[in-house]
Amino acid sequence: MKFYVTTPIYYVNDKPHIGHAYTTIAADVLARYHRGLGQEVFFLTGTDEHAQKNAEAAAKAGESDVKAYVDRMSLVWQETWKAMGLTIDRFIRTTEADHKKAVERFWSASTDAGDIYEGTYQGLYCTGCEEYKKEDDLADGKCPLHNRAPEQLAEKNYFFKLTKYRQALLEHIDAYPEFIQPISRRNEVRSYVDKFLSDVSISRETVSWGIPVPGDDAQRIYVWFDALINYLTGVGYANDEANFQKFWPADVHLVGKDIIKFHCALWPAMLMSAGLPLPKTVFAHGFFTINGQKISKSLGNTIDPVALAKDFGSDAVRFFLFREISFGEDGDFSLERLEKRYDTELASELGNLVNRVLVMANKYEVVPKLFSAAIPEAYHSAMRELRLHEALGEVMKQVREANQLIEARAPWKLAKEGQNEALAQTMQTLLVMLEQIAKMLDPFMPETSAQILSQLNSMRPEPLFPRREKASL
Ligand code: MSP
Repeated sequence: MKFYVTTPIYYVNDKPHIGHAYTTIAADVLARYHRGLGQEVFFLTGTDEHAQKNAEAAAKAGESDVKAYVDRMSLVWQETWKAMGLTIDRFIRTTEADHKKAVERFWSASTDAGDIYEGTYQGLYCTGCEEYKKEDDLADGKCPLHNRAPEQLAEKNYFFKLTKYRQALLEHIDAYPEFIQPISRRNEVRSYVDKFLSDVSISRETVSWGIPVPGDDAQRIYVWFDALINYLTGVGYANDEANFQKFWPADVHLVGKDIIKFHCALWPAMLMSAGLPLPKTVFAHGFFTINGQKISKSLGNTIDPVALAKDFGSDAVRFFLFREISFGEDGDFSLERLEKRYDTELASELGNLVNRVLVMANKYEVVPKLFSAAIPEAYHSAMRELRLHEALGEVMKQVREANQLIEARAPWKLAKEGQNEALAQTMQTLLVMLEQIAKMLDPFMPETSAQILSQLNSMRPEPLFPRREKASL
């Protein structure tokens, strides 16, 4: 059994913020969970480097060599994920040689299928979105997302016959309910494919930063066409056939809801064109705001995930992100709520539970039996179906049940009354529950999970979530 999970590859015109960390940590949670099941996992993330907006950012930074700029910025992304302890199997950069080879191979497969033709593009392009726009997409002539007017383009381009795949896409969407998740997104994409699909320009004549179109050095491949192929390159397409056969198709492409159409219309059509199997699931999570506001550099509210992890501990941040927001829906990030969850659920409920049980087990000289506790099926089904918040809900349910069990059985009373058997049994149940909790927490809070298991092993209690000063981010 294998499990191949990806995140979007991120533009390097800026450093990562908490929104990017959200997707990447979610992929890490899934990767850790599936490794824990004994599956062979491949977790891919990386940077999308041939974007016009990267070239603009380089110019703005006064760097004339775009490649030097993307080299420097890509490192920032790599170091961020490293600092957060993410278990990435490959960090891909679209400027790497094997990716160029993969894109060229793909281009020729699509050309052979008769799906690439020359035409003239006349219309609008938003560099912020790296997307061709229609008049209907604009508000007062401006891109509503980037609040600026798109460029007027009139150039010779290569086009991809997206419309050829309309029917096949609709059939695939209908036949495989798990293909686009959550279901609300599926309806959105289905109606887009049904009503609005048009052929798409996949090259640019007036830009010099990008992969040259094979056989036409005057053209650069459109950045999305280039970027989507990273999911193939990452596991060896055109470079390592055996590995590619082993891991492709992807099990889960995790994306934000902003880029669902690229992943659920253009991408599967591209794969059909090249004769390759489609990913099993594209899961689009929601977007979050910070204290109710859109995350934006100009508002100065971008939260640096590394600083946050330094402040609260990376496990607490991971816990918060998937406990607070229903995975798939929009949510709001606030420091107050993070502090509250830290103090109540982590420090008081979980931390105290572990501590109390171990202190009592020592005091009453309970020798823990070797356990290998079964994990509730509800947890596994939540994990399989990407209801990450519900999986954490199962963990907290167990934490509460254990705390209630302590209150109900009052081991100190049993000890006083000399009810040794009942005492031993209660303590044993609690120890098993702790082990289950630790195991369920592992994908989300790997350090905490390991600490609980090691305390259970040594039977030496150590405090888990220290009281902390008010955050000052
Ligand atoms: N380069 C393209 C993706 C190409 S994939 C073949 C791109 N890059 S991006 O840098 O703009 O990253 C977008 C992704 O970052 C979103 O889809 C989402 O995963 C994540 N997020 C960015 N801001 C976010 C929030 N405010 N909230 C949640 N996720 C956010 O698009």
